[in-house]
Formats: sequence, C-alpha cells, structure tokens
Amino acid sequence: MFNEINLDNINLDSAPPANEPERQYYFMAKCREWVKNFEQKNGRLPKACVVNMGCQMNARDSEKLTGILEQVGYTEAADEEHADFVIYNTCTVRENANQRVYGRLGQLGHAKKKNPHMMIGLCGCMMQEPHVVEKLKKSYRFVDLIFGTHNIYKFAELLATRLESERMVIDIWKDTDKIVEDLPVERKYSFKSGVNIMFGCNNFCSYCIVPYVRGRERSRDPKAIVREIERLVADGVVEVMLLGQNVNSYGKTLEEPMTFAQLLREIEQIDGLERIRFMTSHPKDLSDELIEVMGNSKKICKHLHLPVQSGSSRILQKMNRRYTKEQYLTLVEKIRRAVPDISLTTDIIVGFPGETEEDFQETLDVVRKVRYDSAFTFIYSKRSGTPAAVMEDQVPDDVVKDRFDRLLTEVQQIASEVCAVHQGTVQTALVECKNEHDPHLMTGRLSNNLLVHFPGDESLIGKLVDVRLDECRGFYYIGEMI
Ligand code: SAH
Ligand code: SF4
Ligand code: F3S
Repeated sequence: MFNEINLDNINLDSAPPANEPERQYYFMAKCREWVKNFEQKNGRLPKACVVNMGCQMNARDSEKLTGILEQVGYTEAADEEHADFVIYNTCTVRENANQRVYGRLGQLGHAKKKNPHMMIGLCGCMMQEPHVVEKLKKSYRFVDLIFGTHNIYKFAELLATRLESERMVIDIWKDTDKIVEDLPVERKYSFKSGVNIMFGCNNFCSYCIVPYVRGRERSRDPKAIVREIERLVADGVVEVMLLGQNVNSYGKTLEEPMTFAQLLREIEQIDGLERIRFMTSHPKDLSDELIEVMGNSKKICKHLHLPVQSGSSRILQKMNRRYTKEQYLTLVEKIRRAVPDISLTTDIIVGFPGETEEDFQETLDVVRKVRYDSAFTFIYSKRSGTPAAVMEDQVPDDVVKDRFDRLLTEVQQIASEVCAVHQGTVQTALVECKNEHDPHLMTGRLSNNLLVHFPGDESLIGKLVDVRLDECRGFYYIGEMI
C-alpha cells in the first residue's frame, strides 16, 4: 500500500529496483531530491499544472500524475503561465481535440521564452499516434517530456530522466498487458472519485480511435478494485464512478473471469459507500444479470449512459456496433421495466459516412422514442487509421451541420420536458460545490445525475441531503433543503 511507504527511507545510492511499484517509489524519492535543490536555489517549491483535455478516464489519469507530483514536492500552480512544469493530458477522439493542443502549445512556447526554466510535458491518447510525435519532434522542440497512455505509471521515472538529462525525453509504448497498482493519486473532489475497473477497448467501432490509442481490453483484479474503494471510503468518499470504455464486458480477461454484475454486487457490500455510478455501457454487452442487479441495488444511481451512436440499423452495422435499432429499443424497454425512474443519456454521431436523410430520420425516431434525459451529440470526425476514414460517401459539411442542428433542437426540447417531471418531488442530493453564480446557493447532484441549486453553506459539501425540487429551469432545478 502506498501510504505505508516512506520515500525518505529509500537508499538512492543503490540501483533502482526492477519491480513495480517499488521502482517508481525510488524515482519519486529521486525527483524529491531535485525538488529540495530547487527550493534551496529559488526559495520556494516548484509549481506544476496538469491540464486534462479528455474523458473521465483521462481525468483519472491526471489525478494520478498530480498524486505523483505532490509526493515529489511540487505545489499546484494557479495557471499554466505561472507553472514551472505544465503537462497536457491529451485526447484525440475527434480532430478538434488535436487542433486545440497545437494551438495551446504554441502559446505555451511563447511563455517558455519568457521563462526558460519552464518544463512542458505531453501525454495521453494523442501521443499514441506516431504522426503526432513526429510533428512535435520537428516543430515543437521546446517540449521536454512526451509519454503515452500505456506507460503513465512510469511518470516518476520519466520525470527523473528528464531532470537529469536536459534533453527531450520521449517514451511511447504500442501496447501493454501490465496494470501497476498502489501508486499515489490526488483526488479533485474529497467526497467522490473515479475508479478504473478496466483499461483499453476491443470493440473497434469503425469510426473510433480509442482502441488504437488505449490498447487491448484488460480488467483490474476485483480485489484491488474493492480495496481501493474501501480506502477511498475511509478517506471520506461516498460516491464512486467505475470507469471503463465498455464496463459491461468487465472481467472477461481475468484469470478467474467474473461479470460486471458480480463486481457491482461486491462493491455494493462496502460499508459507508453510498452511491455507485459507472460508464460507459455498450448496449451489445448489457446483460439481464446487470439489469437485475440495477433493479435491486440500493446504491447504484438511477442513471444509465447508453450510447446509441445512430438510430439506423444500416449505419450501426457500418459502425460495427453489433446491435440494431430494434435491439437497442428493446433493451431500453427492459431497463425501464426493471428500474422505472431511471434516467437515460446517450452519445450520438451525426454524419457518419454514407448517412442518408432516411438514416438520420431513424436517429431522430430513436431520440423521440427513448426520450433521453440528455444526449451528447457529435459531428463525425474522420480519424486516420480507422476503417471509417476510408469509407466512401463522406457526407458534405453543410448537410451534416443542418442535421446536427435539427438533432440538437429535438434533443434539448425533449430533455427539458423530461427534466421537468420531477418538479415538486423530494430527492437526495450529494452536495458538490458552491454555486458559481450565486454564492448563497449550493449545488447538489441527484441520483439521476441532474443538478439542483438550493440555499445552504459550504459545510454541506460532501453530504447527502434531502432537497425539494421546486422549480425546473430546463436542465436543472432550484430547490430547498428539507
Ligand atoms: N467507449 C465509449 C465511448 C468513448 S468515446 C462508448 O463506446 O460508448 C465518447 C464518444 O465520442 C462516443 O460515444 C462517440 O459518440 C464519440 N466519438 C468517438 N469517435 C468519434 C468520431 N470519430 N467522431 C465523432 N464522434 C466520435
Ligand atoms: Fe470507441 Fe467503440 Fe470502444 Fe467506445 S466501444 S471506445 S466507441 S471502439
Ligand atoms: Fe478518452 Fe479521448 Fe482518450 S475520449 S480515452 S481521452 S481519445
């Protein structure tokens, strides 16, 4: 367990251990020496800024980086410009995510000219693409450290290498089957936490780059997951979000296979844990067993994110999603029967190659039939290396834009109607923060993932309170604690 390791007792004159995580503890101790020197020279501790640009899995990875930086002695910088070490944890799921990185990196290059001691690190999914690393090597020479998604556990070692060498350090692995446990993490919230249950993805949806940049699917040992959650609970966490690209296929690659539903049953037993969420569920792997567990659970939240991507069975087949429109709708019916008040959300892609107006109408039809509580809508983005990138009939931009606007209008109209049905009810909210716009209000999250703002003070943060939902304002509520 990490807490029991004392970095001060590590003998840095000996060679680094070969085993993990001990090897990383050694390099953390080494980086700590460097930080002490920095402090002596500059009269202050170095400041770091980890910028997360991706999904919840990336966010959790950023917490791991921050945890290591904190152990090493870095303090948190208020912003990038004032940091001694800036790390961008990148995403590459859509092209605009990539463009944003190059844009911000250009600006950071200027800041570094003013402050030559600044170190810049890049990691995350975008770094797993060879053409990206080539471009960085050629045109962004001022970057200090580049690593990928598979060797993020080696961050302390890579940092130590950079601190000693003064040259650009690049380490990218194609894939890994390794999972290193017991490294430090620093949570963004004291009362809730993401918990990885699996890494990678084997689904190869034809538009998606994630399987190429996150590698093959591998599940964490259930005992390690339960142990992590127990420690989080002991540390004040009441809500966990179990993370995986396809949580419904959890456990298949374990030596002793188990199902996601079985894992949930075990997590449910953890005393002091109040709420369980998970994402993402792939419809093709959502089992009857899981629906049953959700129906009987007292802790699993009444919210399911179930990406449909398209309502057209023809397009779904080209997307390699392995379900039809009818199968998806049947599944939704089954879930609603078992958990009547469940809130459903989804992801939808518009403009997949070959999508016709008829196909798009099928998507609108699903949206109208399911009546989602909310939906993330995306314009299809061509990712080189994926099968869809070389498909014929890429849809013209203006047609896609028009469909996207129509879809968004429909989704928002329905979401505001669906949200309003809870008006007047009393529900339990986990208080998350002070309201950004009105300091007299606190913001809480309901089991169904909707937000409610109500009068209160900061002492409520992290507590579960009962709130009457007085007024629905489109996508959130104004309420009162009772
Ligand atoms: N594993 C999750 C999705 C992770 S990516 C799942 O299968 O549901 C999050 C969302 O980004 C996807 O659901 C999809 O809607 C969207 N997405 C992925 N690749 C995309 C692409 N090439 N263009 C546009 N949207 C994409
Ligand atoms: Fe991408 Fe499909 Fe895997 Fe989700 S399930 S990460 S959309 S390949
Ligand atoms: Fe997540 Fe983006 Fe990577 S969605 S898995 S950070 S490509």
